[in-house]
Amino acid sequence: MVTTDAEIERAGRVLEAGGLVAFPTETVYGLGCDAGSVPALHRLFAVKRRPPEHPVIVHLAEAAWMSRWAATVPAFAAALATECWPGPLTLVVPRARGVLDEVTGGRDSVALRVPAQRVALRLLTSFGRGIAAPSANRFGKVSPTTAEHVRADLGGEVDVVLDDGPCGVGVESTIVDCSRPEPLLLRTGGVPVARVEEIVGMHVTMCTDGTIPAPGTLPSHYAPRARVVLADVSSVDACAMELLAAGERVGLLCQDVLPGLPEEVVRLEVPASPDAYARVLYARLREADLRGLDVVLAVPPPESGVGAAVVDRLRRAAGSRAWS
Ligand code: TXA
Ligand code: MG
Repeated sequence: MVTTDAEIERAGRVLEAGGLVAFPTETVYGLGCDAGSVPALHRLFAVKRRPPEHPVIVHLAEAAWMSRWAATVPAFAAALATECWPGPLTLVVPRARGVLDEVTGGRDSVALRVPAQRVALRLLTSFGRGIAAPSANRFGKVSPTTAEHVRADLGGEVDVVLDDGPCGVGVESTIVDCSRPEPLLLRTGGVPVARVEEIVGMHVTMCTDGTIPAPGTLPSHYAPRARVVLADVSSVDACAMELLAAGERVGLLCQDVLPGLPEEVVRLEVPASPDAYARVLYARLREADLRGLDVVLAVPPPESGVGAAVVDRLRRAAGSRAWS
């Protein structure tokens, strides 16, 4: 599916008129609106069923636009922008005057990102201003990585859905809080933490103090209807048998081929590399629901690179459920 320039320009006009446009990014599809329009933001939150105090990311066409949104850009934030944008990294910086409370959830910081996606960048350039865009799913549910996912979730409540095929990264952006003296990791994502640390030249800790209630960091999030249960390769067999014996319809998300597994277990195939696992993760969780499964047994990938974000999302989808 190739989106034409004419479609993108039309979508830009829909944004100007206060409408909602779902569009692809390299991470997941976003549900976009004019980040400077209060009514458009209200409608966005209503469609997403998102509580108003949760802030949204403002998408920009280029790093130079930061000056309209940020009061100051610390040197380490500027370095991250230079090295990683366009790309799957979101920077939280002190907000400029005039940035709406609806965008920031009333905080004194704002989240900014330049996506590395052709259609997203053209839309931003055509519109000419910041686009507020959370992931284009209902609050708390699995993020969409195709236009079909968006249509299935939000259907007629969106004015335009731009389709540019499946997302290349498949999990959300890494979020780094740059509004404090030292960078703080708020969410793992498409840019590995090791890369962030290399750029800022220091160890970056994960925010765990709970003072930054970000929806993507709630303990139960990114969840399909089916229960997600974490398992390791050595325990999958026993776990599957127990669940099947209890009459549950079981799916398996695992990079390894496990020949001894009962054939009633539905295989939700995932490729061998952590990056490829990230690309298909959300589609497989959605597939589990479409196939009416009760439980997804998930064997997480190694935590290297984008694998860390996959492990994080699986943990959140599982809530506290792990099989031991
Ligand atoms: O990859 C992505 O980041 C995707 C695509 C569409 O760009 N967007 C996305 O948006 O994941 P959303 O709304 O699903 O998640 C945005 C996260 C939330 O956890 C939100 O709380 C956090 O960013 N956030 C936004 N503004 C913030 C701020 N000022 N301070 C702390 N966290 C913030
Ligand atoms: Mg989201």
